[in-house]
Amino acid sequence: MADADFMPIKNWDHIEFYVGNAKQAAHYYCSTFGFVPVAYAGLETGLRDRASYVIQQGKIRFVLSSGLGPESPIAQHALLHGDGAKDIALEVPDAEQAYHNALSRGAKSAMEPTVTEDQHGKVKRAAIYTYGETIHSFIERSNYNGPFLPGYRAIEPTAAQLARDCGLRAIDHVVGNVELGKMNEWVKFYEDVMGFTQMIHFTDEAISTEYSALMSKVMEGGHGKIKFPINEPAVGRKKSQIEEYLDYYRSPGVQHVAMITGDIITTVKKLTEQGVEFIQGISSYYDELEGRVGKIDEPIEELAKLGILVDRDDDGYLLQIFTKNVQDRPTVFFEIIQRKGARGFGEGNFKALFEAIEREQALRGNL
Ligand code: FE2
Repeated sequence: MADADFMPIKNWDHIEFYVGNAKQAAHYYCSTFGFVPVAYAGLETGLRDRASYVIQQGKIRFVLSSGLGPESPIAQHALLHGDGAKDIALEVPDAEQAYHNALSRGAKSAMEPTVTEDQHGKVKRAAIYTYGETIHSFIERSNYNGPFLPGYRAIEPTAAQLARDCGLRAIDHVVGNVELGKMNEWVKFYEDVMGFTQMIHFTDEAISTEYSALMSKVMEGGHGKIKFPINEPAVGRKKSQIEEYLDYYRSPGVQHVAMITGDIITTVKKLTEQGVEFIQGISSYYDELEGRVGKIDEPIEELAKLGILVDRDDDGYLLQIFTKNVQDRPTVFFEIIQRKGARGFGEGNFKALFEAIEREQALRGNL
């Protein structure tokens, strides 16, 4: 495979969000989504300009960072974009090799290879830019056994925090929104610079409603472990959800992060109880469901009550649901997904989903 040649990737490492108030954001993700705090860096650990909270659930690791003054690049990022995903960090066997290979194929540097260490060992990291101001860090951590990265101190989660676990286990895919006409440029970037291959292409005919349309291609690397769908708006009668995102994020950026669960009904029940808000479909969706996807293991009344969507492809079926935006701007949201064989992204649900999103857009005066 092409990616094995020059860009071996072990797995997702973490996603770092730049936010206005990391302490409160960490609390939000822990109390509602069921993450637990595992590490912290800030004034008390010798940093002068930022605070970072590392939270985890299953293998999913998020970092919430905020700047401590207006001169901080983190604070400036949050001012311009609102809360957003800055770094989709990937674990690699060799950060220096990944960085130099990416640069020699046209990537723009975000951070030269740097080694940091503490009593737990050494980490080597480097970073490149992708769409907008988003970056990919390459993290080489095989010689490290600390709580996160050198400089972070461990936090012991409390029993109450652990009890909020919602069964989220790993990152499935991370979706980027780019400007009109730019999708193919970024597809080529992931092919040329990262050695990814194109998995699926959704045209605007496939993804359109009465009002808006979008196009999407899915790039895959790390032997299928890393999936990056890339969306661009298509010309529709009114403003697409991608354009709304771009207007409020003020640049291309991460639209949603999909997280895997092994039992979506239990997961979504608990997330809902703990305050996560989901986009709700329409009840007629469930009347037609069995005709569309055939027999499934889950009771359809249960799915209808929670608003979980189902789609089938050649390999099996999947269940999915989307949260509302998790900050004031209509930008970033999350997907919860359970795969029962299916490798797709729920294309059969796109129309119903986008109509539901458009109802929210209309409420915001943005359709
Ligand atoms: Fe998705």
